[in-house]
Amino acid sequence: MRILVAYASRHGATKGIADRIAQTLKPRGYEVALEPVDQVSDVVVYDAFIVGGAAYAGHWLKEATGFVRKHREVLANRPVWLFSSGPIGTDLVDAKGRDVFEAARPAEFAEFAGTIHPRDAAIFFGAFDPDAKPIGLMERIGAPFMRMPSVREAMPAGDFRDWPQIEAWAEGIALELEVIRSSTATPV
Ligand SMILES: Cc1cc2nc3c(=O)[nH]c(=O)nc-3n(C[C@H](O)[C@H](O)[C@H](O)COP(=O)(O)O)c2cc1C
Repeated sequence: MRILVAYASRHGATKGIADRIAQTLKPRGYEVALEPVDQVSDVVVYDAFIVGGAAYAGHWLKEATGFVRKHREVLANRPVWLFSSGPIGTDLVDAKGRDVFEAARPAEFAEFAGTIHPRDAAIFFGAFDPDAKPIGLMERIGAPFMRMPSVREAMPAGDFRDWPQIEAWAEGIALELEVIRSSTATPV
């Protein structure tokens, strides 16, 4: 089975998660391709998809959203898992008392539930380096704001990616793929 792990990452945290998922699946005997969403040339060659993107200002990165929308007909007919990278920090409840994973769910996931019916849409803690070079116009414009003490306090710096959680999620996908693989295997 050919599996595509496609990702959209601005500062590398999501890319690292996608890489760990791919590395977890490979030893299970799957042919796994790991690609940024904007470098995927052909989707029809894959049997299953894992698509991840970072969340910024409540939304999935537009490259990830664009990828899913563009290929929704293929994705709707094959097994798909989505993930989003963000929130940051270690708190499980935010300042408004909400579950941080629910609060961090990108707006687009509701749309995708109705269009491509993913088998799961996971939210993982991400990483944030306030001293990283700004990428894109919005980050350059927002850089002085990001240096304000109140913002620094609200946005904890660090790498909060939960590798055991990410690997466990990938292991769960491997188990589901195994069921699919055995149900589609040609009898001898
Ligand atoms: C300006 C800014 C806005 C962010 N907005 C959100 C958000 O709305 N929801 C969320 O869960 N995480 C948010 N984050 C955290 C990022 O999603 C997190 O740092 C992510 O892991 C970054 O992934 P990347 O390195 O692949 O770009 C934000 C981070 C920054 C710097």
